[in-house]
Amino acid sequence: MEVKTSLLDNMIGVGDMVLLEPLNEDSFIENLRSRFDHNEIYTYIGSVVISMNPYRSLPIYTPQKVEEYRNRNFYELSPHIYALADEAYRSLRDQDKDQCILITGESGAGKTEASKLVMSYVAAVCGKGQEVNKVKEQLLQSNPVLEAFGNAKTMRNDNSSRFGKYMDIEFDFKGDPLGGVISNYLLEKSRVCKQPRGERNFHIFYQLLSGASDDTLLKLKLDRDFSKYNYLSLDSANVNGLDDAASFRTVRNAMQIVGFMEDEVQSVLELVAAVLKLGNIEFKPESRVNGFDESRVKDKNDLKEMCELLGIEQSVLERAFSYRTVEAKMEKMSTTLNVAQAYYARDALAKNLYSRLFSWLVTRINESIKAQAKTRHKVMGVLDIYGFEIFEDNSFEQFIINYCNEKLQQIFIELTLREEQEEYIREDIEWTNIVYFNNAVICDLIENNQNGILAMLDEECLRPGTVTDDTFLDKLNTICAEHQHFESRLSKNSKFLTDHSLPHSCFRIQHYAGKVLYRVEGFVDKNNDLLYRDLSQAMYKATHSLMRQLFPEGNPAKVNLKRPPTAGFQFKASVGVLMKNLQTKNPNYIRCIKPNDKKVAHIFTDSLVCHQVRYLGLMENVRVRRAGYAFRQPYESCLKRYKMLCKTTWPQWRGPARDGVAVLLTDCSVPTEEFAYGRSKIFIRNPRTLFTLEERRRACLEDLATLIQKIYRGWKSRTHFLLLKKSQVVVAAWYRRYAQQNKYQKIKSASLVMQSFIRGWKARNILRQLKYEKRCKEAVTTIAAYWHGTQARRELRRLKEEARCKHAVAIIWAYWLGLQVRRDYRKFFRANAGKKIYNFTIQRIMQKYFLGLKTTTMSPMDNTWPAKPYGFLEGAHTELRRIFHLWRCKKYRGQFTEEKKAVYEEKLEASEIFKDKKALYPSSVSQPFKGDYLEIQKNPKYQKLNSAVEEKVLLADLVNKINRANGKGSPRLFLLTKSNFVLADQKTGQVKTSVPLPDLASVSVSTQSDGFFALKLKEGSASASKGDFLLSSDHLIEIITKLHRIGTTAADRDQINIDISDEFLVQFKQDKVCVKFIQGGPKNGNSAACKRKNNRLLEVSVPSP
Ligand SMILES: Nc1ncnc2c1ncn2[C@@H]1O[C@H](COP(=O)(O)OP(=O)(O)OP(=O)(O)O)[C@@H](O)[C@H]1O
Ligand SMILES: [Mg+2]
Repeated sequence: MEVKTSLLDNMIGVGDMVLLEPLNEDSFIENLRSRFDHNEIYTYIGSVVISMNPYRSLPIYTPQKVEEYRNRNFYELSPHIYALADEAYRSLRDQDKDQCILITGESGAGKTEASKLVMSYVAAVCGKGQEVNKVKEQLLQSNPVLEAFGNAKTMRNDNSSRFGKYMDIEFDFKGDPLGGVISNYLLEKSRVCKQPRGERNFHIFYQLLSGASDDTLLKLKLDRDFSKYNYLSLDSANVNGLDDAASFRTVRNAMQIVGFMEDEVQSVLELVAAVLKLGNIEFKPESRVNGFDESRVKDKNDLKEMCELLGIEQSVLERAFSYRTVEAKMEKMSTTLNVAQAYYARDALAKNLYSRLFSWLVTRINESIKAQAKTRHKVMGVLDIYGFEIFEDNSFEQFIINYCNEKLQQIFIELTLREEQEEYIREDIEWTNIVYFNNAVICDLIENNQNGILAMLDEECLRPGTVTDDTFLDKLNTICAEHQHFESRLSKNSKFLTDHSLPHSCFRIQHYAGKVLYRVEGFVDKNNDLLYRDLSQAMYKATHSLMRQLFPEGNPAKVNLKRPPTAGFQFKASVGVLMKNLQTKNPNYIRCIKPNDKKVAHIFTDSLVCHQVRYLGLMENVRVRRAGYAFRQPYESCLKRYKMLCKTTWPQWRGPARDGVAVLLTDCSVPTEEFAYGRSKIFIRNPRTLFTLEERRRACLEDLATLIQKIYRGWKSRTHFLLLKKSQVVVAAWYRRYAQQNKYQKIKSASLVMQSFIRGWKARNILRQLKYEKRCKEAVTTIAAYWHGTQARRELRRLKEEARCKHAVAIIWAYWLGLQVRRDYRKFFRANAGKKIYNFTIQRIMQKYFLGLKTTTMSPMDNTWPAKPYGFLEGAHTELRRIFHLWRCKKYRGQFTEEKKAVYEEKLEASEIFKDKKALYPSSVSQPFKGDYLEIQKNPKYQKLNSAVEEKVLLADLVNKINRANGKGSPRLFLLTKSNFVLADQKTGQVKTSVPLPDLASVSVSTQSDGFFALKLKEGSASASKGDFLLSSDHLIEIITKLHRIGTTAADRDQINIDISDEFLVQFKQDKVCVKFIQGGPKNGNSAACKRKNNRLLEVSVPSP
């Protein structure tokens, strides 16, 4: 629903001072008052917004109000700060112009509140989305953090900004916020150590002590009681309407939203606690021998706790409070600090610690809120700086703050009053000049590089020799004496010699907003802003995470002997940069006015308001505005914007832009007094005219939009229709094709049916015909076949008959011929053919015979031989057998080794001796001749025997020596060597008899299968006295063969005779005894037994085989 209000609707007083009638100071103030009384705190002067501080919350900042002012023309609704914010935002978004919002006014006039309202409005109307909302939230939440650390209660304002803040909010092309950058200006750090009566230190100290949990306070070594801290003035620790504990929670929450880590928050709070602790360190003098006093820390507890908080070695800090090292030209000197100097050093440290912490906070917030995208962006700057202030006791800080306000006033004058008037002249517009106060002269008094107050203060600070605040004042008195805005008792300007309101140690400046008396005390020190190097180095050594960043100059590796730039110089430079920055942007002004000094609602102090109206130059502002033109624009852009209002200029104007604008305005029936033609711009006097033009433009744009819509819809429908038509043709074509195809298919299938019927009928006819013909042919063929068969059989029978006859004739003929031939050749046949047949037959028989012999083996033991096939082959058959046996024996022998050969030779000899002579022989053939049956070499029992026999033993065996007396045998060892035989005891191996072989005459054995043998000695030989030996052995054949063989092989010896008979004589020692062998019955057992028959006969019965 559209709200039908206007600047003129329901107006209380006048909403725009330009419309005020009559225009004078009284009516101006009266208008402000009547509006203020009706809660109308905003009033316009053209596009400038005057804001009266209501000192209470009004229901005019609701979301409904935001919607009401959103996208509305500036003059369309009753004056509101939202209208200005909306105008600036739309101008930034739609016209791509960077904006700045300049909020001025004295302390407590409502600048900070106004800046927050602007920011919250912009945040409410710009784009939405998760990312955008996060950015907005971070930008908005940076305020509570900075206010906690940079605002304090003053006499003029319970939430006075003690620093300057300029915030650039960056937007993308759609008008969505991307991020921001905050610049801060000189924090009033002297407040950390000392606050004027009725004022407080920075909020954070009270918030921390009231709001932090007991646990946090314990960690920070703090006490909740404000009175425990020297730096917290007591008289106004609690402020009405301020809930420090709740604010602390808000600040912690805001820090979290902005993106501070938990440990960063902790570090920040530690530093705040350290500042409080620092304030509690007190010093006492200690006399030294050289007469000077040296300071000593009184109670070291606070020092210790502070050192623990910051991670500093206590002794280092203690020393830094007692000594000061001065470095000059590579020389170092250490001087002691007296108590006053120690306090100075302590306060300087506290101030620096706090102000650097504040700057770090700003940098940290900037890190969080900085825009991520690197694309070009538009900027809206919001400037909220400490307001102009006059205290009872004004010092360097007030001087700086007021200088800053002078500069802002200057820029206001530059851009609204002077610039505007100069533009009329430049554009050749008829103009009566309006007189206004230009504060450039005051700015010059302060900032002039040669003889400005700041330049002289710097000069004084840098000057060698004794420099005090008084020498600085002297300098001012000489140089600025003549300046119309400078006042001092001691200046050469006689006018002030008797002015008792001017103390000797002060000077006064007539600022644009009033006279301010500055006490010169502390100017030099505050401008120098000196922190002893020992202290900064001590801080740098601290282990606390932030200290190195805060005191970089304390780094011993980077000792810089040059003086740092003075505070005044730095401030002047940063204000210069700010002014340049503001000049590049489109300015929007909010002039804040404070209705009373009591900080209460509903009170409107005329004199106070009147004073502000005057120094802010608001009357001049209205006058310039009324005399001049509310709106101006280059002809080109004016024509471009409104050309649709006139048929001649729409859509394109071919001539010069100025003529086009003239045609346009005439066509729109704008009265001639409402506008003026400049050189390059058109000037429109009344905002209403502009508003009317804008209205008409909007209506026209709506018409144009309708036209475009109409044409677009027509085009769209036509295109759609054409598309439909085209589609219909395609569909119809496809359908026709389909229908024809169907019809054709039907005809085709019908004709195919008919065709197939006719073809079938024809085919059946032909088939019938063919079948008939085939049957006829088959009948004929069958008849013919039968006929041919009959014929053929008849012929066959005839041929067979004929063949039988021929065959019979041939056989008869052959027989006849055979008979003839046999008769003729019988006599020749027997004479020739018989021999040949005989030879062939014989050959054939022999061949068969020889092939049959192939079956015999190569073993000499093999006795098999094929039976003779024919009687006539008998001789050859036996001979062949013999030859073959000899041949295979020879082959067999050829494979023998030497040892085997010797064995076989022995066997052969045995065969020659015993074969067919002794019945024992055949059983010995298969027994190998082992020789040593006793294994005397190995057997330890025969050790003695072995050593007694020197030669190689050819045979060793166990024999039985037959006793002549009873025919029984007693066992003896029998050893045979090459030269003798030995008989030894079987148990002991004791040699009983050793007979050299030459003494052996013969050996007697029986023909039977016993093992008895007699060794007969030569008569007359050395051994003969022992008598012959009758022995029996299981290896008789071997023993006898070996004895015989020794005789054969030894050339020097006679052959031993071997008698084989069943009866022989044996010469025992005295008598000859006959040994007779008889064939025994089976009762004798298996072995031969010897029995004494009588003195001369021993009978051996041998079991029959
Ligand atoms: N629009 C407003 N509505 C309600 N109260 C307001 C408004 N503007 C200002 N105030 C009140 O006035 C007090 C002072 O305002 P603010 O802090 O904005 O002053 P300031 O101009 O920033 O002063 P300083 O220069 O000391 O910072 C606020 O704390 C608030 O109580
Ligand atoms: Mg403020």
